[in-house]
Amino acid sequence: MSSTLTVVVPCYNERENISPMVTALDTALVGLPWEVVFVDDNSPDGTADTAREIARRDQRVRCIRRVGRRGLSSAVIEGALSSSADYVAVIDGDMQHDETRIPLMLAACEQGAELAIGSRHVAGGESAGLSSPFREKLSAAGIGLARRLTGAPVNDPMSGFFLLRRDLFERLAARLNGQGFKILLDLILASPQQLKIVEIPYKFRPRAAGESKLDALVMAQFAGMLVDKLLGGALPLRFINFALVGAFGVLINLVVLQLATVAGLSFGVAQTLGTVVAMVANFQLNNQLTYRTQRLKGRNVWRGLALFMVVCSLGAFANIGIARALYAENTGGLLAGFVGAAIGVVWNYAVSATLVWRAR
Ligand code: GDD
Ligand code: MN
Repeated sequence: MSSTLTVVVPCYNERENISPMVTALDTALVGLPWEVVFVDDNSPDGTADTAREIARRDQRVRCIRRVGRRGLSSAVIEGALSSSADYVAVIDGDMQHDETRIPLMLAACEQGAELAIGSRHVAGGESAGLSSPFREKLSAAGIGLARRLTGAPVNDPMSGFFLLRRDLFERLAARLNGQGFKILLDLILASPQQLKIVEIPYKFRPRAAGESKLDALVMAQFAGMLVDKLLGGALPLRFINFALVGAFGVLINLVVLQLATVAGLSFGVAQTLGTVVAMVANFQLNNQLTYRTQRLKGRNVWRGLALFMVVCSLGAFANIGIARALYAENTGGLLAGFVGAAIGVVWNYAVSATLVWRAR
């Protein structure tokens, strides 16, 4: 009896790619007992309908349609956890990965590897399909950073193409962070022992239909995930993102202050302007990034912005008050400032999490 396999395909706006994917898997996996599960986040283009249409005719095809949620990693996790096969493979839904490699990846795992990764960066692999030289540089930088920070001995830790035993996935599932794009790195880092990894080369294809969903926010989330791993999960990821956004806000404040002073405004007016601009920018960033999964929309944005500014103003009062009190007690100026700022951030985070971005 050969092993059974579930192929998990995260997809968002991939309508045109669903049918070609099923056909390609049918050819590549001939002779294997396999099924495919498309995990769609309620794409406006009707990806789920297309997948269901095929599923009605072909028992090997399933579709999970998630509503009110977005995210590549979490889609993969839910797809994999819906499987009862021996092995789970994960492949992008846009035909950029080479499905003909799956049998090799399966063989590698049957012969003792714990994780088989489709790799663009071992002999025989290729990343020509990246859309621009900028994407290539970015990809290389990301890989370098991920390897340095995590020590993962993998040439393509950012691959979205891999295969492992389902029971191993299930064991690691509870330790996954599940945010953003980098589910493979997440899995590698979730394992308490170093996994036995084999990399199988493949050539990354250009996208034929649809467009990439990787954007600046996804990259920012990736940065948050690395910081999270570095801190060993000591702080909630949400808080890390919130604090990173806050640090960026300080920068914005200073730049606006500088520009406004040069433009001839008085210091008081310039600093007020800088603070307001920074608050609005921070609100936007937090709404897009930190609270991506419960983003405020429409009228709620204005209500949220107003609340956020009130909360942060109170945070600033607390910050200044505490720093002054400490300074008066002969605490060094820098330390007093730091404690004040830290308390301000914690206040802003705790209060805005419950008041502004209340989980629904
Ligand atoms: N369900 C769901 N929800 N699927 C998503 C989402 C989402 O929020 N965002 C993206 N996807 C799906 C896409 O539809 C596609 O099938 C797959 O995830 C990869 O997304 P792309 O937007 O095509 O990403 P990419 O081509 O820039 O990068 C991919 O390939 C790289 C090379 O292997 C990703 O898999 C990277 O992680 C990977 O490094
Ligand atoms: Mn892609």
